[in-house]
Amino acid sequence: MNYNKKTVKDIDVAGKKVLLRCDFNVPQDKATGAITDDKRIRAALPTIQYLLDQGAAVIACSHLGKPNATFDSFVKKQAEKGKDPAALTEEDWKKSLKKLSLAPVAQRLSELLGKPVIMAADVVGPDATAKAAALQPGQIMLLENTRFEKGETKNDPELAKKMASMADVYVSDAFGAVHRAHASTAGVADYLPAVSGFLIQKELEIIGGALADPKRPLVAILGGSKVSSKIGVINNLLNIADTIIIGGGMTYTFIKAMGGSVGKSLLEADWLDYCKEMIQKAKDKGVKLLLPEDSVCAKEFSADAQPVTVDSMNIPDDMMGMDIGPKAIAAYADAVKDAGTVIWNGPMGVFEFPAFAAGTKAVAEALSHCGAITIIGGGDSAAAVQQLGYADKMTHISTGGGASLEFMEGKELPGVACLLDK
Ligand code: 3PG
Repeated sequence: MNYNKKTVKDIDVAGKKVLLRCDFNVPQDKATGAITDDKRIRAALPTIQYLLDQGAAVIACSHLGKPNATFDSFVKKQAEKGKDPAALTEEDWKKSLKKLSLAPVAQRLSELLGKPVIMAADVVGPDATAKAAALQPGQIMLLENTRFEKGETKNDPELAKKMASMADVYVSDAFGAVHRAHASTAGVADYLPAVSGFLIQKELEIIGGALADPKRPLVAILGGSKVSSKIGVINNLLNIADTIIIGGGMTYTFIKAMGGSVGKSLLEADWLDYCKEMIQKAKDKGVKLLLPEDSVCAKEFSADAQPVTVDSMNIPDDMMGMDIGPKAIAAYADAVKDAGTVIWNGPMGVFEFPAFAAGTKAVAEALSHCGAITIIGGGDSAAAVQQLGYADKMTHISTGGGASLEFMEGKELPGVACLLDK
């Protein structure tokens, strides 16, 4: 995939209407709807500010959550959750949509920009089109949740065309959604000149650069609970990295594949052969594959379970691995010491429980002073680094969870592929 894409700086946006796709899929408090983390809104500010300063009129858009765009799909989803379909009304559906309105995002964006953000009541309906038509240079509006339109996730060309008809140029800065081939992330680019904003440019330069031409040695630290969710990444990084470090719950499927006893640890039996294949691939390619020599285990999955350190190959029958142990911590810190680049995706243990956070914390600590380019994949690893207080010590923390994972898997990203090449 070509990552060398035109950016907002390569086109003239003065006096133009710009359809700007952001990833404003922010976490919200279930009870109050208040935004609990506005990082994704802040991440879009440089591009928004640049466009406004250049005299563009900005029509921002984003998805939020996974709303049911039709009453029928709402009923189906609720029935799957065990609700009685006959008892559901259109009112219930509308209430569920209201919870996923982008209005709180408009409010927060307005506070951050220090200027009004005009909120549209729909995506391509009468309110959005009238407000877009009246929008003046230097003004910004926000369309309602793009997933309120049923054509969005189907990448419906009619919807893409209607969205495009409101603007002269399309700018995408929604890195977190570039792995989605949706109408607002990819389809619109068929109807408008399409370039990237600064956030996508940065993510492509840093992650793309590390994958295509890394400063070596390249060390990849892969953790998280399941091997099944990391297969693509392990497979692709075995072609690129010099060392791969394994941690987290997925360790134990590897340990079992090597003939170890894993007790009650998380085990994906269907993936044992795959792990064996990856161990062989590492040997064939001369990639160092490091597994934790010891593990911090417990008898039950709970915050106050008693931590016990054991050899990872010999976990007692009544115990489960919850974190990497002190020998693994020392070996992993040593492995990143002379790295040129470190890519980290997935925690080393159950870092949400303080008794089992030491491995993840130690890796974050080692990365914070190793002198390498340090790249943290979005999702859980980004949350861990933030929660443990190391966020400002890393070179780059990706704003994309699924998107950064698919990027590291070497997959084509539809929301990037649709942008104009330089
Ligand atoms: C994310 O939160 O990872 C992005 O906003 C994509 O959201 P999605 O998984 O609902 O498409």
